[in-house]
Amino acid sequence: AEVIIVADAAAAGALVADEIVRLIRSRPDTVLGLATGSTPLPVYEALRPRLAGVDVSRVRGFALDEYVGIDPAHPESYRAVIGREVVEPLRLDPDRIRTPDGSLDGIEHAGDDYEAAITAAGGVDLQILGIGTDGHIGFNEPGSSFASLTRVKTLTAQTRQDNARFFDAIDDVPMHCITQGLGTILRARHLVLLAFGAGKAEALAGALEGPVSAALPGSAIQLHPHVTVVADEAAAAELA
Ligand code: F6R
Repeated sequence: AEVIIVADAAAAGALVADEIVRLIRSRPDTVLGLATGSTPLPVYEALRPRLAGVDVSRVRGFALDEYVGIDPAHPESYRAVIGREVVEPLRLDPDRIRTPDGSLDGIEHAGDDYEAAITAAGGVDLQILGIGTDGHIGFNEPGSSFASLTRVKTLTAQTRQDNARFFDAIDDVPMHCITQGLGTILRARHLVLLAFGAGKAEALAGALEGPVSAALPGSAIQLHPHVTVVADEAAAAELA
């Protein structure tokens, strides 16, 4: 992987946003892989002014994951988060931006449907990734198969605790999610993994330099030929 250490999250956002703008200018129907959580927000913020004069009408996007059983209108559903943080401010076409369907009816085929939609779009050109403190990418928690595709998973207690800040109480954090698999993520043509803060240092070092192991799902990126890691000093502190 190419590792770029930046002064702060804003600098990372600017760098990744510049790359995304280049991509969209050269290919107006670029397919973006969108992450939620705190990490990618500086990218979305930096994209806003940069995309002002760019035709984004054909840009497509696929979110990494969604909670299962959450009302899509709930402000913390990833459908709502992607709408608020990405689709609306960047003026993307909402019909071209998808999140996995976490509704309970149809959950058995939601994963297959999502895979089919990604394939039909020609695959993801650039996948934005964050990493969990336990090393997850997407919601592929430790033990996830490197060949896994979009499917329902149970969130770990650690991840529910990490995400409780978005909800009124930890008990409101859903128990299950539907997430792109590690196999899905590895098919994207370019992976851009962002990590900020000391809390991510151990997971980032394990992902980049530790053994390739299902115990640390982020280590799957070592199998991918085109990975860019953008981290601040604190997140990069444990790298050799
Ligand atoms: C989000 C996702 C997760 C997050 C990870 C880090 O779509 O798939 O893997 O990237 O949990 O979360 P933050 O960025 O909030 O620290």
